[in-house]
Amino acid sequence: MAESSIPIYIMGKRYEVPESLTIMKALEYAGYRLIRGCGCRGGFCGACATVYRVEGDPRLHFALACQEVVQPGMYLVQIPFFPAERAAYKLEEMQPTPAALFKTYPKLLQCLGCGACTKVCPQELDVKDYMALAMKGDIAAVARASFDCINCGLCAARCPTEQAQYRIAILCQRLYGSYLAPRSQHLDERVREIEEGKFDEAMRELRGLGVEELRQRYDAREIEK
Ligand code: FES
Repeated sequence: MAESSIPIYIMGKRYEVPESLTIMKALEYAGYRLIRGCGCRGGFCGACATVYRVEGDPRLHFALACQEVVQPGMYLVQIPFFPAERAAYKLEEMQPTPAALFKTYPKLLQCLGCGACTKVCPQELDVKDYMALAMKGDIAAVARASFDCINCGLCAARCPTEQAQYRIAILCQRLYGSYLAPRSQHLDERVREIEEGKFDEAMRELRGLGVEELRQRYDAREIEK
């Protein structure tokens, strides 16, 4: 049975698209060639932030175009980039302290805690909460709470005090990763083994395999607990 089509509006223009498509596929179906606003297509990179409204409903909704399926009467536009503040810093010259965080993003202390950022986050992160942690200078807690951020920038787009929440999050993640996170001994050991050539023979063997055999090996691999 043929799939039914539904009307959607892309930047104000009406198109009929199959009802099962994601927004991203619907854009392409309508003839848009995505040069910006499209990256991993799997919900990880944050390039496809999209704002939409559905006919008859005044509320704005926010989604990732590669994940959200179209709805009839959807008016949509993509926001592949948002010009939020981006501080320049040299991580290797910084200390993982509240003072360093506030100096890099002084506006952070003006956050109102309104929650518009949390409402908009397509990853369902509690952005307001990690901003409160940032105001306390708790870098490790911000890094943990914002770990799933994909830097789409929608939080900054909605903020009444023009915060750059996702940039603050990534700074905390970098400081945490560089200075605060416990060192993984087993990773250091594995790097040493690689450098000593422990896996050279196995790599040579894998390079000689065909795609099918590689697939089977991959499927049969032992997954570390
Ligand atoms: S294209 Fe990467 S999150 Fe949608």
